[in-house]
Amino acid sequence: MVGRTPMVRLNKLSQETGCEILAKVEFCNGGGSVKDRAALFLIQDAERKGQLSAGGTVVEGTAGNTGIGLAHMCSAMGYKCVIYMPDNQSPEKVSTLKLLGAEVRQVPVVAWTDDNNYNHQARRYAESIENAVWTNQFDNVANRQAHIETTGPEIWDDTNGKVDAIVFATGTGGTLAGTSIYLKDKNPKIQTFLADPQGSVLYKYFTEGKLERTDGSSITEGIGQGRITKNLEGAPIDQGLLVMDADAVKTTFSLLYDEGFFVGASSGLNVAGAVQAARLMGPGHTVVTCLCDTGHKYYSRLFSRDELEKRGLLECIPEAHRHSLH
Ligand SMILES: Cc1ncc(COP(=O)(O)O)c(C=O)c1O
Repeated sequence: MVGRTPMVRLNKLSQETGCEILAKVEFCNGGGSVKDRAALFLIQDAERKGQLSAGGTVVEGTAGNTGIGLAHMCSAMGYKCVIYMPDNQSPEKVSTLKLLGAEVRQVPVVAWTDDNNYNHQARRYAESIENAVWTNQFDNVANRQAHIETTGPEIWDDTNGKVDAIVFATGTGGTLAGTSIYLKDKNPKIQTFLADPQGSVLYKYFTEGKLERTDGSSITEGIGQGRITKNLEGAPIDQGLLVMDADAVKTTFSLLYDEGFFVGASSGLNVAGAVQAARLMGPGHTVVTCLCDTGHKYYSRLFSRDELEKRGLLECIPEAHRHSLH
């Protein structure tokens, strides 16, 4: 159950923009997110390189979804799974990982440049034990290879080659880079948009050439970056789009109440980015994005009245539905 996800048309937004707004439903992967594709390819890459053999340990630094994908696959393939994550992630992700059999090590949030960043701790731990691999989702290009070999071809087939633009937010950059590499090879005219949340550096990098953060911090999880990862390096990207939280959250709730999809905020941000791209390109174009995961993991944050109020985002939820927030 990795890949071959459904492609759906988002009816209301397609009607509003005059474009076909399509989304790959990535929460239909077995582990529930787009990151299952990367998880499978990262493990298979380690096996092929002889870094992992029967009974071995897979170690990763992850904010959640890659860990969930890896934990599922480790159970199925007979590996141990150890996950390092920043200690500011939603509690649902932590308990899910533990339930799936992974050992979770939550560490204080520090920048990549700090030696104690969760990724560096994951690498050091894997190096310190036998038959273990640090899958290194950010800089191991087996991640984007998953999307070159699966997501890209699926989008091409699902649309019969009639795709004008792709729009994805980036965490590692694997999804955006891999699909863009594959699809631009099929048709160089396809436009690639990187949709960035507030507080990330990539919007400014792809508009002004500066690695400089935009203002604010985002309610979204799993996306936004402070650097150019190896997965993003050299990928063909035409334009950066900045999607503010207000727009991402509004779109997440519109997906829920108008289109029937209960998804997390990165999916809302992706779709808000697809709408921006559709407006830039004008009517008559086909714009493809994805729904990364479901909303269940974000129940205590994204779907909480207190949290939305604290961030000044409560007004983004239609008034008639505010009473249903806990
Ligand atoms: C919820 C969610 N959305 C989107 C992404 C971004 O995917 P990628 O790492 O391929 O850029 C992630 C990555 O972890 C994620 O967890």
